[in-house]
Amino acid sequence: MVCETLLEFSEHESSILRTGRLVLCRPRAEDAVGIARLANDKTIAENTASIPHPYTLAHAQAFVARIAEGKADAFLAFTSIDGVCTPVGMGGFSVVDGMADLGYWVGADHRGQGFATEIARGLLDYAFEKLEADKVTASCRVTNTASRRVIEKCGFQWQGCGLATSLGVRGSFPVDRFRLDRRIWESLIAWGHGRRERWPAAARAVTAGTEIVTQ
Ligand SMILES: CC(C)(COP(=O)(O)OP(=O)(O)OC[C@H]1O[C@@H](n2cnc3c(N)ncnc32)[C@H](O)[C@@H]1OP(=O)(O)O)[C@@H](O)C(=O)NCCC(=O)NCCS
Repeated sequence: MVCETLLEFSEHESSILRTGRLVLCRPRAEDAVGIARLANDKTIAENTASIPHPYTLAHAQAFVARIAEGKADAFLAFTSIDGVCTPVGMGGFSVVDGMADLGYWVGADHRGQGFATEIARGLLDYAFEKLEADKVTASCRVTNTASRRVIEKCGFQWQGCGLATSLGVRGSFPVDRFRLDRRIWESLIAWGHGRRERWPAAARAVTAGTEIVTQ
């Protein structure tokens, strides 16, 4: 199962993903300030598993260090704002029940522009193309309508409900669980073949396709 080797993979490869408007790459030490600024947000903490609130520079530095050590994996998404390369959000996979589980967040000032969808789709292309995953899972808090919509726009199928623990709420909350199988991803990509947008159109999301650059 490829997803079991995700962390191993990240130790040896440093991939950069390019989507329509974003560049996604593994965060480095100098990105910690930007990550802390974006992630110090109660809404992020209350909708994700492992982001505390407040989220300090020390948290961000520790997270980046864990990535450098291969103990965690994530991509920081940058876009050009007024000509400046600006971090806007983050996405990545953790291994849950032996499967790659997709997670993401977008900074408060950058929401509502399709960035989460673009991050999620870029990471899914990466998981299925580069990591040869069979399936990817995702879940969202039942109250998280925006995240549910992102998941739906990526073609995930609803699997059921469950409980997930969250550092942000210091407890657990009910979640909807979803799964995207490789054959569905292949169908979506086949639909987009030859069209300007690789993925089927989705409102404000501008996803031309994902270029995976391995350094
Ligand atoms: C969830 C989150 C990642 C969405 O980021 P985003 O960049 O705004 O997402 P997108 O713009 O790609 O898509 C959001 C979709 O949800 C829709 N949406 C947003 N709020 C909504 C609401 N209250 N009701 C219904 N739809 C809503 C948007 O209209 C959009 O759908 P559309 O493209 O069909 O119009 C962001 O709000 C966030 O980081 N939240 C905190 C952390 C989090 O929840 N992470 C996900 C954990 S599962």
